[in-house]
Amino acid sequence: MNICLINIATNKYTRFVDNFYASCKEFFAPDQNVSYLLFTNHMDFETSVDVPVKKSYIEHKPFPEPTLKRYHYFLKEREYLESFDYVFYCDIDMQFMYPVISNEICSDLTLTLHPMIRTRELFTYEPRKESTAYIDVATEGDHYFCGGFNGGASKTFMQMSETIAKNIDTDEKNDIMAVWHDESHINRYAINNPPTKIIDWCVTDLHWSVTRVGKLACLTKNHEEVRSD
Ligand code: GAL
Ligand code: GAL
Ligand code: MN
Repeated sequence: MNICLINIATNKYTRFVDNFYASCKEFFAPDQNVSYLLFTNHMDFETSVDVPVKKSYIEHKPFPEPTLKRYHYFLKEREYLESFDYVFYCDIDMQFMYPVISNEICSDLTLTLHPMIRTRELFTYEPRKESTAYIDVATEGDHYFCGGFNGGASKTFMQMSETIAKNIDTDEKNDIMAVWHDESHINRYAINNPPTKIIDWCVTDLHWSVTRVGKLACLTKNHEEVRSD
């Protein structure tokens, strides 16, 4: 099977790329053919890790644009991405900690439980009806998914990207931005199109360092520093 793993890294986020790719080379679907697609403004960036990478140019924009517009970026490479069997997206400030074989991730639509938001009282869905990401937390949704790792069959994933990008455009026209950006939209999408696999092994690196439990760790970082130009 051919799998494409997508990341986004503009400006200071390129500092995470080598570490992330090294963890993937060791642990991400070692039983399959994995290619990488990196959206970046640094077209001359070369990773020191020996993995096949295609770069796709995007402009650097201040936060939250690079996260909010991720599905728009993916659509620019639709034809390329649809040439794979499965496509995944992962935040670059993460690290695989143990082997994750293809059976654990490949399904029509695979979403990931948020590492810290596991009970309804904590769900941070978009609460305003004016947004296309609106969810009535009292009556809808069984899970809170994080935006940082998801994927699926390539055609399904691109269909999801198209729907979410359209919804984000509609919100923009109506002058509203969902509270957790792309993450709010994927949670709305998941209610209308339930995932066929749910991953529960994404953890914070703090949690991992204490318990050694979890396969994908979110790295602790100084958000303000790394998001500044
Ligand atoms: C935070 C996380 C954000 C967003 C938020 C949702 O822990 O850093 O990226 O997921 O939760 O409430
Ligand atoms: C974070 C997540 C990112 C993005 C962001 C939205 O939790 O890791 O991928 O979805 O929330 O602000
Ligand atoms: Mn992140």
